Order: sequence, then structure tokens, then C-alpha cells
Amino acid sequence: MTKKLKILVVAGDGIGPEVTGEAVRVLRSVAEQGGYDFQFREEPIGGVAIDAHGTPLPESTLKAALDSDAVLLGAVGHNKFNALPPSERPEAGLLKIRAELGGFANLRPSFAWPGLSQNSPLRPEVVEGADILFVRELLGGLYFGHPRQWDKTANAAWNTMRYTRDEVVRVAKVAFDLAQKRRKKVTSVDKANVLEVSQLWRATVTEVAKEYPGVALEHQYVDAMAMHLMNQPRSYDVVLTENLFGDILSDEAGVITGSLGMLPSATIGGKVNLYEPVHGSAPDIAGKGIANPLGAILTAAMLLRYSAGLEEEAAAIEAAVKKVVGEGARTADLARGAEKPQVLSTTQMAAKVREALAVRTGASVR
Ligand code: IPM
Ligand code: MN
Repeated sequence: MTKKLKILVVAGDGIGPEVTGEAVRVLRSVAEQGGYDFQFREEPIGGVAIDAHGTPLPESTLKAALDSDAVLLGAVGHNKFNALPPSERPEAGLLKIRAELGGFANLRPSFAWPGLSQNSPLRPEVVEGADILFVRELLGGLYFGHPRQWDKTANAAWNTMRYTRDEVVRVAKVAFDLAQKRRKKVTSVDKANVLEVSQLWRATVTEVAKEYPGVALEHQYVDAMAMHLMNQPRSYDVVLTENLFGDILSDEAGVITGSLGMLPSATIGGKVNLYEPVHGSAPDIAGKGIANPLGAILTAAMLLRYSAGLEEEAAAIEAAVKKVVGEGARTADLARGAEKPQVLSTTQMAAKVREALAVRTGASVR
């Protein structure tokens, strides 16, 4: 069991610092209760790093990340940088840290939380029981392919969707390995009726599947998948996607959980794992203390699971979230549909989770 863990916190922009601060407090109480030594260091990324250092990923941040056991990220992005080219925006810092850390498999669990089905615009009988794990390839496809350019004299722009067979094999293996421990089904998403990249993707995933006779494989086109996810979310177990398709479908999956603010993620397979909630920086609600901290807190649980081997503690955080949500605790984004809910602030919601965690072990609340 890992007793010592160096965690780099890159809270970033918008609501990032608010929700990440709460995730860190939860990690601190886990450390205190379990007698673990978690060391936290903070560095800038994204828009705040551009403002302070003129670059969205300062060398010092990258160095600290490579020197840590796990990186906990909040969110990056702010409207004030919208006019900049992609390579100079806050998001470029996120893409660079992803590339440098090397994690290629981004795990995005999407779960219909008991008690939150009223919050989903989908009918409860459609969402209840849904439990999907997206495995999004994170280092390839359109996000990283070259050539890429906006040629203003020619009034034309292009990006490149590119995958090698090896890149598909390694992420497919992660998906099949995880499916083996779950309900033994992988749904691979592509657009093989149009794109050569998707044809390579489909052929490769089909080959990898032969090594996993116990796991059922199905293929879906991304457009159909976008619809099936809303019609029959319970039909899916592990959903394997390339980078952009996974970005889009995992936001859509926020509809299943009732709020994008509930979704955590973990990126594994590289030198240092990277943990970030699926939601963005939400500048419109930043600084108001109303953001939902549960996505970030559930992200901290994934950190304990995948970087510390602390499965019991990870599950305890998830159980604590389930408990408080089940008891009706709601931040503003979760208050939809509930009957006269008492709307909690970011800190109040997080305090409830820490309380539920402490009750479990009989520890005092800090
Ligand atoms: C996500 C985000 C990022 C992505 C952005 C901020 C670059 O939307 O993590 O889903 O597209 O990967
Ligand atoms: Mn996204």
C-alpha cells in the first residue's frame, strides 16, 4: 500500500481552483484517517499561467508534473483568450501536459447516480442503472495530427486525423482489460463508413478482441452511438473511442448522470497519471462558490484507485458521494427537477462528503 504520494495540483482557470481545492481537502482527510503522507504542490496551467508567465504550460509546471506521482487538474480555458490561435490558448497547455505525461487512455466513468435520475432530462426508467466506462484515446487523432493550419490567404484550414495501428492496439487493450473486470462488453465507436482512420481503428480493435474471448465486442458508428446513448444507456459497458469522438460523447453522457459536474476522469498508461474532471472551467459561474465539486472529488477517488492502489479509500469516497446525493444534497446544477431542494454551495457540498467519509471511520471532521 502506498503510504507516500507526491501530488501536483494544477487547478487552472475558472471554477478549477474552487472544485480542486475541495478535492484536495477530501484527499487530506483520507491521508489523515489512513495515516498516509500525501504531499501537495501547486503550479499554474492554462489561462492563469499565460497571465503570469506568458505560456499556458510553464517549464516549472511541467517539471513538477514529471516529478510527481500523480497530477490533479481542475480545468483550463477562458473566453478572454478566444481570439488566440489554438497553439497559444489555455487549452494548449492541457494538451501539452497530456502529451508530455504520456497517458493515452482516458477513463471517463458515467454513472446514473441513485437519487439523481430526477435531474436527468431523460426519463428515470431510461437512465436508472446505467453504468458506462468511456475509454477515450487521448494522444492521437485530430487533436495532435499534422499537418494542421488555418491558411488565411487561401481562406482554407485543415487538421489531420491520424492513428497508427500501435496507438489503437494499446488503448484497445486497456478497454478490454477493464471490460474483463466489468460486464465484459466493449462497444467500439468509429465512422468506418466514411473515414479510412476509422477503418484502421475497426480492423485493429477486431484483432485485439481475439485475445479476449470472454469479452463481447460490438462496433457502432459515432452518429448512431450519440443517439443510442440517450435511448438505451443501460446497453453499454465499456465504450472505446478515438480522441474527438470521446470528447463529444463523454459530455453527452453528462445527461445520463444528470450533470456534467458529476463526471470524473483518469488518464493512465504514461509516465505519470493525470486526473481531471470532465467539465470545463465554466467562467460564467467561477468565483461564485456554486460549482459542483463532486466531479473533482470523484476524480480524487480515481487518483487513489489508479495511482495509490487505495481501492478501499477510493470506494469510500464514491460511497460518500452516493450517500449525500441520495440524501438530497444538491448544488445548483443538480437542483433541477428535485422538489424544493436546499441548494448547497461548493464548500457545503464538499463538507457533506467529508462528513460522510468521517462517519464511516468514526474520525473527526476537519
Ligand atoms: C476535455 C476538454 C478538453 C478536450 C479541452 C479543454 C482541450 O474538453 O477534457 O474533455 O477537448 O480534451
Ligand atoms: Mn470535453
